[in-house]
Amino acid sequence: MVNLSEIEARAAAQMDAAAWGYYAGGANDEVTLRENRAAWDRLAIRFHTMVDVTARALGTTVLGQPIDFPVMVAPTAMQKLAHPEGELAMARATGASGTLMVVSTTATTSLEEVRAAATGPTWFQLYIYQDRGATRALLERARDAGYSAIVITVDAPLLGWRERDLKSGFTLPPHLTIANAVAAGSGHSRLPYGDEEGSALFKHLKALHDTALTPNDIEWARDITGLPVVVKGIVRGDDAVRAIDHGAAGVIVSNHGGRQLDSSIATARALPEVVDAVSGRGEVYVDGGIRRGTDIVKALALGARAVLVGRPPLWGLAAAGEDGVKEVLRHLRLEFDLAMALTGCTSVGELTPDLVVDA
Ligand code: FNR
Ligand code: LAC
Repeated sequence: MVNLSEIEARAAAQMDAAAWGYYAGGANDEVTLRENRAAWDRLAIRFHTMVDVTARALGTTVLGQPIDFPVMVAPTAMQKLAHPEGELAMARATGASGTLMVVSTTATTSLEEVRAAATGPTWFQLYIYQDRGATRALLERARDAGYSAIVITVDAPLLGWRERDLKSGFTLPPHLTIANAVAAGSGHSRLPYGDEEGSALFKHLKALHDTALTPNDIEWARDITGLPVVVKGIVRGDDAVRAIDHGAAGVIVSNHGGRQLDSSIATARALPEVVDAVSGRGEVYVDGGIRRGTDIVKALALGARAVLVGRPPLWGLAAAGEDGVKEVLRHLRLEFDLAMALTGCTSVGELTPDLVVDA
């Protein structure tokens, strides 16, 4: 593989058109989907020279857990749309690649089965349901199964308006279920019927997700599980501070890969403000449009502890199952290692803000 676009094309050719549209698409005009990529491209690297870069250390820690390189697998729903082994293959490949998987509430495999297959650390991504008893049950199950952190996604009180899904009639095929949603009543483990009022997934979220989520829910989840909580879907310094003040151990700067509020700020632009506001009181991660080793260099230089990738591991899964995910992560690692050498850095701690300017 020369770059990730190649495996993206293989995945697109392999998948059902409506399922592909669900993975690839964003909200409305997909302005943010495009801007996430463009904003990384608009940053330029002021690289160092005359540094001995013969030995390079790519590893870091996230909430104290070591990972071999600063790229984690973002939570993505319904991975069995890509491959029959879905989340299980993703978990095995992520661990084998020396990094961490964030497992979605909206998975097509139960959180216990994914944890049992995992060969590396896993965090559980929580959607807070209106039914707080069902939400508490998910949190207790995640704790008991051995997840090491909870990631609360806060940018999806309702689903974004995803026109590809509305046009294609995207829904979950009958042999698949949203396994964890059984906790909220087994009727929710299948998607309702989509129409012009909303896609099948839009209606699923509307029926289940709590639109009244507040920062108090961070403490609530932490107290139930005793686990660190990370808040995902932050693009402002003040919201990051609210999360940290309510007990978050970290935040993920994210606009959900351009799938929620279209025209929301690109994550590369939002990152510096959030890093500044958090000012070391928690860890800051970022996702959205990370496709190149140089994107990872830029994100870490701007203060992210690590990045997450959403669609690229799905491309690997669709193209070649577990091996495809490994290929994607191996390639990102290779590009990052090369970018470090050419930037004149030998460890992630040397990636500092002076390395990046607007192009
Ligand atoms: C997502 N994302 C997501 N986020 C989340 O918190 N819970 C979820 O269930 C999902 N599901 C989901 C499905 C699919 C198909 C995609 C593409 C994305 C968002 C994801 O975690 C991440 O924020 C973005 O995907 C990052 O952008 P890139 O790397 O895909 O550009
Ligand atoms: C998505 C949801 C499920 O982005 O998070 O499709």
